Order: sequence, then structure tokens, then C-alpha cells
Amino acid sequence: MYKLITFKQIGRIEIGFLSFFESNQNIPFEIKRIYYTYYVPVGTKRGGHAHRELNQLLWCPYGKINVILDDGKGKKEFLLNSPEKGLLVGKGIWHDMYWIKENSVLCVAASDYYDESDYIRDYNNFLKLVKEGYWKDENKL
Ligand code: TYD
Repeated sequence: MYKLITFKQIGRIEIGFLSFFESNQNIPFEIKRIYYTYYVPVGTKRGGHAHRELNQLLWCPYGKINVILDDGKGKKEFLLNSPEKGLLVGKGIWHDMYWIKENSVLCVAASDYYDESDYIRDYNNFLKLVKEGYWKDENKL
């Protein structure tokens, strides 16, 4: 499952804006970890994996990052170019991120602690798991 969401924006042009999200309120999981990626040269591709169980929310507080999501049946592209946009990326979604603008920052709120064994980094293995129905009951997240 994946979904683009728009955060509430509080403020006005003269003083700036504030956005927020909360576990189990506007994002459908408990946050256990926050991480962020920065100083990434323009043109770089990162990601290149899916997760067995991890659910994540991606947002770009500054810059322009193109995210390609793939559920094993089709691909969809999302441009994160505004601090009020968030992209929910559920378990079982292959994701690639492309840095479009210098100094873009990608922030991620994740549903669990870092665990390398939760990663699927081989695309053929990912497709095999999709075919086997590994995430077949994961329509919600
Ligand atoms: P990775 O998730 O592959 O980054 P990206 O999707 O941006 O390409 O992680 C890069 C490296 O950082 C990898 O060696 C795992 C490590 N890492 C941690 O140690 N803790 C974390 O919370 C994350 C997200 C990654």
C-alpha cells in the first residue's frame, strides 16, 4: 500500500508555516525511528529495496526528490517537492528515490527499529515474494 498525504499547514505567508503528523492519528502506525538522508549529489539514485514488515512515511522538508514506487505489478512516480507532502510507503513496496535538486533532504518516520533482515535488496527476490502472495493481506499497510 502507498498513499500521498497532505499535512495540515498552520501559519501564513508573513510568519511562515508549521506542519505536523502524529502516530495513529494522521499516519496509520506507531513511529519508532526517524532517519534522514542529506548531502546527496543531484542525480543520485538511492533506495532500491522493499521491506518485509516495515511501514514508513517519507517527506522532503527542503528540495525535490522523485520517488518511484513498485508493488511488483506496476510502478508509480511521486515528486516530493513541498514540505506539506508526505508519502506513506507500506511494507512490500519497492522504492527508488532520485535526487533532483541540490541539498534536498529526505526524512523518514518508520514503524520499527533498524533491522537489515527486514530488507529485500534483490529485485527478483521481491518479485518472487509478490508472486507467492507474501503481502497479499497487506492492503491497509
Ligand atoms: P538504506 O536504507 O539502504 O539507505 P537508502 O535507502 O537511502 O539508500 O541504508 C543505508 C545504510 O545505512 C545501510 O548500510 C543501512 C544503514 N542504516 C542504519 O544503520 N540505520 C538506519 O536507520 C537506516 C535507515 C539505515
